[in-house]
Amino acid sequence: MTAESDSADFHIEPLNTQHKREGFTCSLEPTLERYLRRQAAQDVKKRFAAVFILMPDGQTVAAYYTLSQFSIRMQDLPSETAQKLPKYPQIPATLIGRLAVDDSYAGKRLGEKLLLDALKRSFDFSIQVASFAVVVDAISERAKSFYLKYGFTELPGIANRLFLPMTLVAELISSL
Ligand SMILES: CC(C)(COP(=O)(O)OP(=O)(O)OC[C@H]1O[C@@H](n2cnc3c(N)ncnc32)[C@H](O)[C@@H]1OP(=O)(O)O)[C@@H](O)C(=O)NCCC(=O)NCCS
Repeated sequence: MTAESDSADFHIEPLNTQHKREGFTCSLEPTLERYLRRQAAQDVKKRFAAVFILMPDGQTVAAYYTLSQFSIRMQDLPSETAQKLPKYPQIPATLIGRLAVDDSYAGKRLGEKLLLDALKRSFDFSIQVASFAVVVDAISERAKSFYLKYGFTELPGIANRLFLPMTLVAELISSL
């Protein structure tokens, strides 16, 4: 299968030893390339992050993302959001820690497919372990503008950290 494949042909599954991590290239953000090659398997083993791989063929890594449990300090939420919530100091959340598409698959809507899969998985999981919102740390201004397109908003006072309440995640995935 080639980089020309339709995004519907791609399959997403948890990282395993069959995946060819060394072939993954992300020249826009080399730290995300290094993370997958060197750190991701350790993070899975230590239960720091769940890593999901998007592939055309069961081995080639076309893109990946990570999910972890997270919390947001109440004081970091926008006041109009915080005032509607019970006054707990910490709010349960789900973190998309990293998300990246291989250079040869850029601009083929895999970033969107990956993000929507991460949101759907976060929503499904939140039924079992509650989560108020999905949080992302955008690695750059470019990444931030990608997330803003899907309804994420900034957490005031924390540079490049954005969130999307799970109620809006539910609306987004039910409209697909
Ligand atoms: C950001 C990234 C995931 C986008 O992946 P992609 O597969 O090239 O993007 P898609 O083809 O799915 O694009 C979907 C939409 O987002 C837009 N888009 C893509 N990259 C964007 C960016 N950096 N800024 C703003 N919009 C962007 C596309 O134009 C498209 O918009 P449209 O619906 O109006 O046509 C990819 O460029 C990447 O891996 N970047 C390096 C790592 C990174 O920045 N990760 C972000 C998390 S920290």
